[in-house]
Amino acid sequence: MATDKAEARRQAAAFMSTLNSARQRLALYPPEHPQVKEAVGEVLRCVEPMHVDSPSFTVSIMGEELFLNGRLLPEESRNHNELMAQLTERKLTNLSLDRGITPEELTEFVRWSTAKPEEISAAGGWGKVLAEAGVTHLAVDRQVALDDMWDQQGGGNERFRVSREVYRKTINAALSAYMDAKSHQSVNVEMVDGVVQLLVSSVVGNDDMMKALSQIRGYDEYTLSHSVNVAVLTLLMGSKLKMPGPLLHRLGTAALLHDIGKTQVSEDIVNKDGKLSSDEWEQMQSHALRGAQMLAEQEHMDQLAIVVASEHHAREDLTGYPRFHAYKKLHTMSKIVAVVDTYDALTSDRSYRKSETPDEAMKLIIEGSGTHFSAPIVKVFAQLTGMYPVGSVVEMDTGELGVVYKPNTDDIYRPQVKLFSATDESIAEYKLVDVAEREEDGSYPRTIRRSVDPSECQVDISDFL
Ligand SMILES: [Fe+2]
Repeated sequence: MATDKAEARRQAAAFMSTLNSARQRLALYPPEHPQVKEAVGEVLRCVEPMHVDSPSFTVSIMGEELFLNGRLLPEESRNHNELMAQLTERKLTNLSLDRGITPEELTEFVRWSTAKPEEISAAGGWGKVLAEAGVTHLAVDRQVALDDMWDQQGGGNERFRVSREVYRKTINAALSAYMDAKSHQSVNVEMVDGVVQLLVSSVVGNDDMMKALSQIRGYDEYTLSHSVNVAVLTLLMGSKLKMPGPLLHRLGTAALLHDIGKTQVSEDIVNKDGKLSSDEWEQMQSHALRGAQMLAEQEHMDQLAIVVASEHHAREDLTGYPRFHAYKKLHTMSKIVAVVDTYDALTSDRSYRKSETPDEAMKLIIEGSGTHFSAPIVKVFAQLTGMYPVGSVVEMDTGELGVVYKPNTDDIYRPQVKLFSATDESIAEYKLVDVAEREEDGSYPRTIRRSVDPSECQVDISDFL
């Protein structure tokens, strides 16, 4: 991790310096001038190694902070603040460069990056400017479109395993961070940063993370896998809401640490098999403020993580805990974590109760919409997971069984499903159906009757995804 970080810093620094020189030359000379060609060539030489392991990289600026692929680079932020201010002024705060970028494309971009902000607006903004200049390997403010996340094109199983590997790695790293918090009563900020970095880079834009998540839930010790699940789902929500990379990083950190206060509550209480006494319940509730306190005592801890830890059980109507004054406005990020946290808790097996099926959990959340939870956030979450999330097994009113393959944002009850025969132990044959499709008379040939516990089926669901 340390080497990766040092390498990322070196690459980002080189990119910023060479970009700066190229801008200066292009402000003085025409694009065909040898000095310009040389400076653009320098930028390209820096870009090349950044594309070795990944088809694209993103440089983001948020205020006075510089990020490479969502990773904060504090020193480089200070060293390049003038360039960052100039780029910010021109709305270049989220710049993605794809493998294969040509000297011509880079020259066009750099040339425009020296134009006055009003000239760029007058030309129709960055999208139009780049399109008209024929620049296709560089994007400004590229968003992760949620719909793309479901469009898996071949090679799915291999990528699925990669996701699983990332998930396990993240769990291990999160385990270290939580163990550290338990024994030292403090949080290892650097370690958490690494975990979140891994999560952001693996979740955002990863077609298969949702599928991997549906398969590996409950893999490890509860609080821990719960925290990682919450972070993954929260980041998926963040991408759906089109949050920029640096904000996703902060949101991921807040989500991962939202329950850190539980490390200060006795495990007997956290895992108690049965009803809590009023004293135990009080201790359990204290995890929100204790967590916020722990994080607040931490040097360099993001304020957002502190806010989310204190507010994630407060509820939309403020009837939760801790009790806040009636005029309190909860942070949007706390509202997101609250929904995701409840959903993951309801759908996980605990020592004292069996998990709800995803559709039952979603029904409970929808019932709490507007009172316990923010109604708009519930709506977005329902569209993200669907009533029947990807990877869940469902039974149709025709008696057929299937695995949910792709949600339908227009009708959360009618996703696309891969049907299989209940007696079939091989996965060689399946039939993809769209449950939203109607007959000519307007009726539905199939409607989902219920979710089914995957252990009731003989097939390996991961082969369907
Ligand atoms: Fe909590």
